[in-house]
Amino acid sequence: MKVVALHNLKGGVGKTSAAVNLAREANRDGMPVLVWDLDAQGASTWVLGGENGLGRKVKKLLAGKSPLGEEVQHTAWERLDLLPADLRMRELDRLLDSASGGDKHLKRLIAPFSEEYALLILDCPPGLSTLSDQLVRAADRILVPTIPSPLSVQAFSRMMDHLDLGKRQRQRVAPFFNLVDRRRKLHREWLETPPAAIAPAMQSWIPYASDVERMSLECRPLADLAPRSRATLAYRQLWQELKATL
Ligand SMILES: Nc1ncnc2c1ncn2[C@@H]1O[C@H](COP(=O)(O)OP(=O)(O)O)[C@@H](O)[C@H]1O
Ligand SMILES: [Mg+2]
Repeated sequence: MKVVALHNLKGGVGKTSAAVNLAREANRDGMPVLVWDLDAQGASTWVLGGENGLGRKVKKLLAGKSPLGEEVQHTAWERLDLLPADLRMRELDRLLDSASGGDKHLKRLIAPFSEEYALLILDCPPGLSTLSDQLVRAADRILVPTIPSPLSVQAFSRMMDHLDLGKRQRQRVAPFFNLVDRRRKLHREWLETPPAAIAPAMQSWIPYASDVERMSLECRPLADLAPRSRATLAYRQLWQELKATL
């Protein structure tokens, strides 16, 4: 099982949109996929039509003391499953801190899912703390949606400083541009040559497209909502690029 996390210090940059669409693309590609909505706000749970809230005590689930797998919900898409958000997960960092497994706790917690899924997608809350440190151990790729703006690049640099990765670990972090508007000069320039601070960025990028916003109105991934939209094709390309490097 490959593990892909959508992560960024910042909110509102496209983590959830990418998590849901990449999951659906992988699923269309024939892979059994699980999305874990780690953000208490529950945006990917909403788009995938899931029901918010975990049945058992979150503390026990995260400690590995009750079976996380029993909280998995099926979605309208065959072999695309969901581990839904829970409001109590807003204390995720504290819960991970108090668990016994140290840096590798998350990795151990998700290991049993490899029996059933080829891909696990982690839709992370914004921020930079215990979860980020554990993602470095648990995820094969940390995808970082990045808006082409100086402040976003700065946020990316801060994240990399915090994570303090070795060379091989650095290769697992993959920034990609989201909300690209090719009418803007800076966007065109950065697509051509990304700033050194985020290089190497992924080749694929996601345009600004109102179809993406419609996902949370219609509760469907783009492949179903707007099969021929530019944004759909962009996420498909992102998935193909990601798949080739996993
Ligand atoms: N490429 C895009 N084009 C248009 N709107 C987008 C795009 N990516 C994200 N959005 C919108 O921006 C908002 C934040 O996106 P979301 O994926 O929820 O970000 P995050 O999970 O990082 O908070 C949502 O309303 C979403 O519809
Ligand atoms: Mg989100």
